[in-house]
Amino acid sequence: MARSLISVSDFIENLRSFEQQIITRDSVLDFCSTVQVSDSSLDPFIHFDDNIYTRNLVYRDDFFEVMTICWQPGHKTAVHTHNGQLCWMIPQRGNLGVIDYKWLGCDHPENQNVVGIDCLAGSDHTKLEVVREVEACAGGPVLTADKLQTIHSLYNLSEKTERAVSIHVYSRPIDSCVAFDMVKSQCYRRELSYFSKHGVIEPKGSPASPLPSSGLVQLTK
Ligand SMILES: [Fe+2]
Repeated sequence: MARSLISVSDFIENLRSFEQQIITRDSVLDFCSTVQVSDSSLDPFIHFDDNIYTRNLVYRDDFFEVMTICWQPGHKTAVHTHNGQLCWMIPQRGNLGVIDYKWLGCDHPENQNVVGIDCLAGSDHTKLEVVREVEACAGGPVLTADKLQTIHSLYNLSEKTERAVSIHVYSRPIDSCVAFDMVKSQCYRRELSYFSKHGVIEPKGSPASPLPSSGLVQLTK
């Protein structure tokens, strides 16, 4: 079925209607799967950086956070969680790769017993296993992260030429997450920030700047 072309403003207005009820992964997924956000309406929120993928805030309230993430060729996130929240990713332009991971255990599982965030992190012996690897292509299926599948990493499938843009919706908003050092088997919490807010690039060097991504992490090259 053809998707309805709508502006990002209309997209957000529709999202806000979900706030009158219980927000579920599948109800928002159904909505996101029936629409196509117009490229022109996203123009103010498209910013690329050579060094890191950029997180560009489009909208935020108590329930929803909407951003674009702009990927240069070769950009990738760290392996990360979503702080116990739900995430929907709409591939808007280009092609992304998604690797899902399963948590098998660590030496500080008790650190998950914390209010308001998913885990204090701080383990030196985290075991993760790759569950699947999929491609996320513009016009293709909307992907999700949820409470059962919360760990993943994302990357631009194109290593040399093609930029990519994706739209990310979080509920509730995510200000920090757990990231994993896959070489050292360590995990740690990362604060998240924006490259731009509402179309305006954040000052470099400010506390709210350089940012990791989608619940993600500072890009390492
Ligand atoms: Fe993510």
